[in-house]
Amino acid sequence: MSELDEWFDSVDPAMLQRLTDGKQLRDGFARFMLNYQFAIDEIMTKINILRTEFEHLHDYSPIEHVNSRLKSPESLLLKAKNRDLGLNLESIRDGVLDIAGVRIVCSFVSDAYWLAEMLSSQRDITVVTTKDYIAHPKPNGYKSLHLIVKVPVFLSESVQNVHVEVQIRTVAMDFWASLEHKIYYKYEHAIPKDILLELQEAAVVASQLDSKMERLHNEVHGPTSRR
Ligand code: GTP
Ligand code: MG
Repeated sequence: MSELDEWFDSVDPAMLQRLTDGKQLRDGFARFMLNYQFAIDEIMTKINILRTEFEHLHDYSPIEHVNSRLKSPESLLLKAKNRDLGLNLESIRDGVLDIAGVRIVCSFVSDAYWLAEMLSSQRDITVVTTKDYIAHPKPNGYKSLHLIVKVPVFLSESVQNVHVEVQIRTVAMDFWASLEHKIYYKYEHAIPKDILLELQEAAVVASQLDSKMERLHNEVHGPTSRR
């Protein structure tokens, strides 16, 4: 009998089973998360193509920058728990739609709508929801376009349609949102009324800046004809 066999004989079979189950669970979860990374990669490629083509045809870039993030396992499990989803991969997949997130920061408001339209109309993309917080800002002043889309990911043995949350906003909206986000966390989600008011005012100023910049741009370069 080898040393390994002896060791196996000496360990509690139930514990061994738990270790194996734990490993399978971890492997399954890692694979689950990998699909979301692939979906982000697909969307990033689409955005890069749209951006490069646009730059080729026009004299400016419609995109200032693009970020992506995969929800951390901790915040994913917390969200699933808070929403009373069962802790299994299927209910998490159906119930948490922002595991993969992509944020596109645009030069002008019209670029944000253009990008949303270009992505939404692609044949392999299914739009699950669209929220237009630019036309209908949140009460605190938050503005952005939010799309939840499904994109196919072609794996060796299957095709998975994976949810991605795409947020599209201008630089000014992004500046506002990142400050608001920090303040929100600083006050542990309860922003004092006077600061809330100032944030609402700042959101209006940011919108005015957006309009002014786009008008100036159009005055100098002429309106961008996109088709
Ligand atoms: P989730 O809690 O993410 O499921 O939000 P939801 O289903 O209510 O969706 P919503 O489209 O309102 O918000 C999704 C994401 O948009 C958030 O996770 C933030 O990244 C961003 N967001 C929404 N509202 C605000 C806001 O008031 N301030 C900031 N800074 N970001 C916001
Ligand atoms: Mg979210």
